[in-house]
Amino acid sequence: MLKIVVCVSGGGTNLQAIMDALDAGKITDTEILAVISNNAGAGALERARAHGIPDFCISPKSYPDREAFNRAFTDRVKELAPDIVVLAGFLVRIPPQMVQAFSNRIVNIHPSLIPSFCGVGYYGLKVHEKVLERGVKITGATVHFVNEGMDEGPIIAQKPVMIEQDDTPEILQRRVMEQAEWILLPQAIDDIAHGRLEIREGHVYRR
Ligand code: GAR
Repeated sequence: MLKIVVCVSGGGTNLQAIMDALDAGKITDTEILAVISNNAGAGALERARAHGIPDFCISPKSYPDREAFNRAFTDRVKELAPDIVVLAGFLVRIPPQMVQAFSNRIVNIHPSLIPSFCGVGYYGLKVHEKVLERGVKITGATVHFVNEGMDEGPIIAQKPVMIEQDDTPEILQRRVMEQAEWILLPQAIDDIAHGRLEIREGHVYRR
């Protein structure tokens, strides 16, 4: 049984996709131990509660400095002792000590085709704003393992999504979620639960 902790910051539609996939048997042999948010007002926490999943808020605002927050956050995740940590719209930089403690065991969903439109300043709706500003015709989403870099870890899977002429950032965000994110993230979790992925020299291969 793959034990996972899901970290969230916002509305939690990716968390919902994971919970729905579990309910539908599209992810098997997997259990969500807890949902953690940096933001007490995150709608994602409501979704976790509605599903009977333990939820915690660990906010940087409750700590004197970043280092204290990083320690508290990492300690809480270590106490929960998951096999993997899933970042489902978690908009906080993962502490280096946590990346080390969970090497190749943290999975992130990013709403673009990495290495485009990623890195510092590219998160949530901002990604789609910048995609439309640049006028590219194809975007998508990427699910990847987290390393010390920002959106730089080994890529597990990507899915393209077409941009349409009248897109707004909100419309595009929704299409990228529906056509890519909500499919890729549950699939990656199921792949990990069933040992289908292998990392060699920084690349992910299917067994
Ligand atoms: C999602 O689009 C996710 O890919 C993005 O935040 C959104 C959260 O939505 N994550 C990032 O930008 C990470 N760099 P959700 O709370 O409805 O799942």
